[in-house]
Amino acid sequence: MENITIIGSGTMGHSIALSTAWAGYKTQVYSLNNSDLDLAKKEIENKLDDLYSNELITEKQLREIKKNIIFSTNLEKTVEYATFVIEAIPEDLEIKKELYTRLNGLLDEDIILTSNTSGFTLNQLSQFYNFPENFIITHFWNPAHLIPLVEIVKNDVTRQSVVNRTTNLIETIGKKPILIQKEIPGFIGNRLQYALFREAQSLLDKGVASKEDIDAAVTYSVGRRYPIIGPLMTADLGGLDTFSSISNYLFEDLNTDKFSGETLARHVQSGELGYKTGKGFYNWDGPLPQEIINKRDEILMYFLKRDLEEK
Ligand SMILES: NC(=O)c1ccc[n+]([C@@H]2O[C@H](COP(=O)([O-])OP(=O)(O)OC[C@H]3O[C@@H](n4cnc5c(N)ncnc54)[C@H](O)[C@@H]3O)[C@@H](O)[C@H]2O)c1
Repeated sequence: MENITIIGSGTMGHSIALSTAWAGYKTQVYSLNNSDLDLAKKEIENKLDDLYSNELITEKQLREIKKNIIFSTNLEKTVEYATFVIEAIPEDLEIKKELYTRLNGLLDEDIILTSNTSGFTLNQLSQFYNFPENFIITHFWNPAHLIPLVEIVKNDVTRQSVVNRTTNLIETIGKKPILIQKEIPGFIGNRLQYALFREAQSLLDKGVASKEDIDAAVTYSVGRRYPIIGPLMTADLGGLDTFSSISNYLFEDLNTDKFSGETLARHVQSGELGYKTGKGFYNWDGPLPQEIINKRDEILMYFLKRDLEEK
């Protein structure tokens, strides 16, 4: 059984820790300071309460999960017995480089180091690490304890045994691994997500429909099918001749801009960054955000329950 260490306890670090601890792994969590770790502890407690009240875990499991997570601000101590280290620190190449350089003096050759990077390529990251053949990307999705997908990214130097051990760990913690065999920015999930986001922005900028109706076009149509079938299977079921005809006249009209759309750029310039600043495409100053997040998590937990029942 792997001994897991997670470096960084923010949005992703604490929820990845919850996933590994839930599967019974002793999980060490390192962050820079105690206030960071206190926040992570609180977030984990809240998430455990939600899992418990949605009957995804028992009271005994709740206690065991908590016991499985050990927090520390001492990097050396945190990685002392680690066999599998997951880095979840900010998406900044300099910060990541500094950490890997420090880990060079701390990790042995047989330890797997993974990054949760959203978009850096494996080469960009592994160049700073002494054992690039043991370095791999494991891209968890937010919230990591509820979203099953983990994109595993290897390259030509990655050892097959590292791919196997990583895939095995991801499966053991109840996640759905997919293997990305070529270095490609944004991996797969974000490429698909951002293709849709670019077109949604373009429709908004052109005044084709309101933001609410553009969002509804996804949540009330393809969004209803995607939990079950992806875009390629959808085409098979719809008829490839039809999907091909539509592709042939529609693709040339789809947006191909290289940068954010006008509305998005304007919001960002005005410091309107969405939920965290109270305004973005939508206004977020009432109790609604929490309601939407709760509703989202409730549906995610429903799917998770179904996944667990199917196993
Ligand atoms: N937030 C998301 O939705 C999301 C989704 C998938 C992947 N990611 C990726 O996961 C990684 C972490 O993102 P996040 O959203 O959790 O960030 P975050 O800012 O919420 O958390 C980062 C954590 O790392 C700590 N940290 C900062 N510098 C550090 C250092 N030098 N050593 C150790 N710890 C340090 C911070 O104190 C904090 O606890 C990034 O690479 C990000 O791109 C994020």
